[in-house]
Amino acid sequence: MKSFTLSVAAAAIGVTALTACSTSETDSQSANTVTVPDYWPQIQSPITNKQAVEAKVEALLADMTVEQKVAQLIQPEIRDVTVEDMRRYGFGSYLNGGGSFPGANKHATPQEWIDLAEAMYQASIDDSLDGSSIPTMWGTDAVHGHNNVIGATLFPHNIGLGAMRDPALIEEIATATAKEVRATGIDWIFAPTVAVVRDDRWGRTYESYSEDPAIVGEYARAIVTGLQGDISDGNIDDQHVISTVKHFVGDGGTDKGDDQGNNLASEKELFDIHAQGYVHGLNAGSQSVMASFNSWHGEKIHGSKYLLTDVLKDKMGFDGFVVGDWNGHGQIPGCTNDNCPQALLAGLDVYMAPTPTWRPLMENLITQVNSGEIPMARLDDAVSRVLRVKLRVGLFDLPSPANRSLSGDISVIGADEHREIAREAVRKSLVMLKNNQQLLPLAPNSRVLVAGDGAHNIGKQSGGWTITWQGTGNENSDFPGATSIYTGIEQTVEAAGGEAELSVNGSFTEKPDVAIVVFGETPYAEGNGDIANVEYQRGDKQDLALLKSLKAQGIPVVSVFITGRPLWVTPELNASDAFVVAWLPGSEGGGVADVLFSKPDGSVNYPMHGKLSFSWPADPFQNPVNRGDGKQPLFAYDYGLSYGENADLPQLDESVNSAANAAGDAVIFQQSVQQPWSLIATSAGEQGAMNSNVLSVNTLSIRTADRHVQEDTLQIEFGSSEDSIRFFSPFPEDLLDYAVPTGVLAFDIQRSATTGMTVSMSCGDGCEAELALDDFITADNNWQSVAIPLSCFVDKGVNLREIYVPMALSAEDATEFKLSDIRFTRVETPVACPGS
Ligand code: BGC
Ligand code: BGC
Repeated sequence: MKSFTLSVAAAAIGVTALTACSTSETDSQSANTVTVPDYWPQIQSPITNKQAVEAKVEALLADMTVEQKVAQLIQPEIRDVTVEDMRRYGFGSYLNGGGSFPGANKHATPQEWIDLAEAMYQASIDDSLDGSSIPTMWGTDAVHGHNNVIGATLFPHNIGLGAMRDPALIEEIATATAKEVRATGIDWIFAPTVAVVRDDRWGRTYESYSEDPAIVGEYARAIVTGLQGDISDGNIDDQHVISTVKHFVGDGGTDKGDDQGNNLASEKELFDIHAQGYVHGLNAGSQSVMASFNSWHGEKIHGSKYLLTDVLKDKMGFDGFVVGDWNGHGQIPGCTNDNCPQALLAGLDVYMAPTPTWRPLMENLITQVNSGEIPMARLDDAVSRVLRVKLRVGLFDLPSPANRSLSGDISVIGADEHREIAREAVRKSLVMLKNNQQLLPLAPNSRVLVAGDGAHNIGKQSGGWTITWQGTGNENSDFPGATSIYTGIEQTVEAAGGEAELSVNGSFTEKPDVAIVVFGETPYAEGNGDIANVEYQRGDKQDLALLKSLKAQGIPVVSVFITGRPLWVTPELNASDAFVVAWLPGSEGGGVADVLFSKPDGSVNYPMHGKLSFSWPADPFQNPVNRGDGKQPLFAYDYGLSYGENADLPQLDESVNSAANAAGDAVIFQQSVQQPWSLIATSAGEQGAMNSNVLSVNTLSIRTADRHVQEDTLQIEFGSSEDSIRFFSPFPEDLLDYAVPTGVLAFDIQRSATTGMTVSMSCGDGCEAELALDDFITADNNWQSVAIPLSCFVDKGVNLREIYVPMALSAEDATEFKLSDIRFTRVETPVACPGS
């Protein structure tokens, strides 16, 4: 009966099976009745003797208490856990997040990393308080080299590696990364990301090798092999690390490229496109999988028993463990960061619990096991998976982190041979989009002007996940041993008797033979990088102005574009004679000059090698655009000019398809608060977020009500002048699409009295505009539609590109009102701001 209902529900949305949201319904009976389609294959594990460790797993498990078992599943973060906590509880693992360092010191030395690893390890095997001597393990985001550590080799981000089409080099990169990580006493890496990104508006596009699953699959195999080494005997040696294929599954296919958004693919597409990195990464033996923040047809993956258990573990036969993402369990409906049996029941094995909430989370899990809410069999299975991987990586046999073969071998970090691999990757990842009159390669004995804010900026050329999480706030001095793109050019040119002049704004003392302008995206990570469309420098084309001014002075212009994704740069292409995409090359900027310049005799020094692994948009609003979708990108997947090719790019049409631009409203509230916004209520300094249909904070209350349809209205009561509400996104949203004379903030409101209400909008701290609502509404108490011209906010300093709060309301006194249908939209005729 139950499976029948499930399949009917599933059929309705075109997927094969769904798990019930409520855990009480997911009993083992129903697990057996779910059918997983045959295209999900059985993993071909490279491990020949899987039985070798099983007896040890069982023996360990037999001696463990519930507390010790649950501790294996909790992964705290070094900013919020102490060595003494480790001694007391014996966590199975711990992590450092992006931009998190031993002693909170960005400049922590490799020895300090080892010292922390050693202290945590010793505390974990100290059984004096918790009775457990199981060694802990440390996981880190070494996603383009050991990127949290000063002085480490930084390889190009994955998007650049995809352009190389070179799995053998990927394997070498992974091997080098594993060594640098091991040198700091760390055992485990949260990489590779095997997302197949379909909509490049996603802020994590650069973490993806390609929009095409073929490259991602092949690379996943190579990188896992490089990170873990040959695992056929069931052992990862101490030159290698545990790898994690992430984020399972469908993170690259969310609607509109929304970070942590909803993937609406059919199950077959989920498999064919988004799961290929797992098939190949797990066939290569990856020992862990990270669950993704995203949802699939509205269900959070962290809570999806179907995907985590039925598909990944039962059907594919994955016998390692599933780790959660950063408090990702807390996003399952009905869960909070500190309480979430649902995730374990669905098949998550390790909770990534980076905030102090690890403690109540752990206590709650213990209670839930003791009460039977979590079956002992599920707990034992999860713990066995963690122990199995620990045995495979030799944690019970190896010496402590300070005494392993690479620990303390500081020469490994940023080693010359690793930098040489990185530099080769930089060379091979460059993609040339334009080379009119075969301007490139340049003669090295030229007089070269090097301009643009990316020219001598190692932080910018390295992108997000570079020392800090967002990759911002770094100086060139934070990268000992690294080379900027300018430095590489300078060295090449000076060695050949030419001259290089660095000038960010393009001014020069003597007219150059050629200008190389290095410009592009400012670093970002995750949701901070989500954009509304793919136009480069919307509304503020400073780099274009620089290119044009150089060209106007008769100087041939070579653009080097630093970017985490294809962007609409048609005007910049037109203003350049040659245009090379460098992606996010990392610490070895010298690789760019290696290719841009010929040998002194004019012959090619290194070939122009890279080919697009993503389609390049023809329009700012052409997103998504992917290979085989019937659209006409500007440059198709696989495009990339070579040296010697006589293929001048004609002047391109810069007009923008504004019909696409005009499509759609940005809805903030319509029956529910729409992603990415949340509704926050503040009363006398206290705050609450609206998560259900009622919320009260002190004297403020909100509940949903019905107007035309269910729950389409917010009924709000302010008990005093200290009450206010606001819609909020933790990441800035780009609403520049509405920056037209017809753009408005529109909503319906009904209120009983005029009480001096204020409506405001904010683009971050100190960037706010406040308007009197009475200027836009009438005094009567019927429902009325309000349309506030966005120019009113812009005139007061709001930057529509970076909106954190699209609408906030407050009042001079206690009041009651109702709101519905809140959105950014365009009206028929332009409206002026009253008073302007
Ligand atoms: C990211 C993961 C990362 C984790 C730990 C999360 O926000 O999604 O990719 O491994 O943080 O830093
Ligand atoms: C933390 C990073 C972490 C990231 C994951 C941030 O708040 O500072 O360390 O990797 O969250 O989302």
